[in-house]
Amino acid sequence: MCLDEAKKPRDFTKFHEINTEILWRWLRRCFADCVILWLAKHVRFNQSPTENHQTMTPMRLCDHVQLPPDEVRLLPRGWQILGSMILVSIPHVLEDHAEAIGDALLAMYPRCRTVLWNRGVSGAFREPHCEVIAGVHETETVHKENGCYFKLDVAKIMFSQGNLRERMRMGDICDGEVVIDMFAGIGYFSIQIAVHSHPEKVISIELNPTSHHYLQENIKINKVDDIVLPIHGDCTVKSPKGTADRVIMGYLDSSQEQLIAGMLAARKGGILHYHEATPTVLAYQRPIERIREAARIAGRSVEILECRTIKKYAPGVVHVVVDVVVDAVLGMSAK
Ligand SMILES: C[S@@+](CC[C@H](N)C(=O)[O-])C[C@H]1O[C@@H](n2cnc3c(N)ncnc32)[C@H](O)[C@@H]1O
Repeated sequence: MCLDEAKKPRDFTKFHEINTEILWRWLRRCFADCVILWLAKHVRFNQSPTENHQTMTPMRLCDHVQLPPDEVRLLPRGWQILGSMILVSIPHVLEDHAEAIGDALLAMYPRCRTVLWNRGVSGAFREPHCEVIAGVHETETVHKENGCYFKLDVAKIMFSQGNLRERMRMGDICDGEVVIDMFAGIGYFSIQIAVHSHPEKVISIELNPTSHHYLQENIKINKVDDIVLPIHGDCTVKSPKGTADRVIMGYLDSSQEQLIAGMLAARKGGILHYHEATPTVLAYQRPIERIREAARIAGRSVEILECRTIKKYAPGVVHVVVDVVVDAVLGMSAK
């Protein structure tokens, strides 16, 4: 630097410009950090585990589990998320990799706590066969569906994904009615009806003590104590007779005895929703024949309103619902 230059007064305008630029950049950075922090705290980027469901995700399991190519193609492509639990079916040939699959799923869904190997349901109570393969050994959770909360132990109680649309439909059509939910479980139908329709009363009958316990909990959690009456016992014995505007028989293996009890529970002009697992070739003929036979024994008349297929249940078997009016009364039209 020469002497002349040293004597020159400093150009404070330029200095000020540079500092403003730095300050501005720094402020922008701070603002961006704040926004990111706020979003991370308040917005759920991933699918919330408290909402559904059967997940066919763009995040692929094969990107997270190291397997030889012939085994990679056997990896599960879908799983069910219930609350903070992930339920996954794993082919037996991948048994040795179950833990790695569980760990990978937890890495993909950081909000979930436990992964269970889902080996299907069986028995009159439709109890699941599950085992924890990753995460914490806790199987109770609260699952959110259609604005309703369902507390359940996923290792003891099933929650069928495929019935969602039917549950939502029921939650839409019971305004002012007395409803009997003959196979209430943890309140799959009852809670949705109580929360979303404006029924006069929902009588929810459940035989399995564990399901009945969660039904009571769910009534409290969803604040529908004044609407839903939980009854523990066999619906063939406990269903009140001749009072219901609507009877829901949401059980796939109903016996004829239960179907007769359903007929008798409906008032004149009441509607019965009869669910059945039917061989595809017999849909809807077999459930209709069973309904007509039960009506004959119960001494009631039936009029078929509608038949619907809910889902594929097993190879060659479908889950169907048949809606019927019992003792249709002239001038009292079914909704
Ligand atoms: C699992 S639920 C059906 C699923 C449900 N509809 C849904 O939307 O996912 C069927 C329930 O019926 C109950 N159940 C079976 N037999 C019964 C009976 N005789 N009386 C009352 N409940 C019964 C089972 O314990 C089970 O909780």
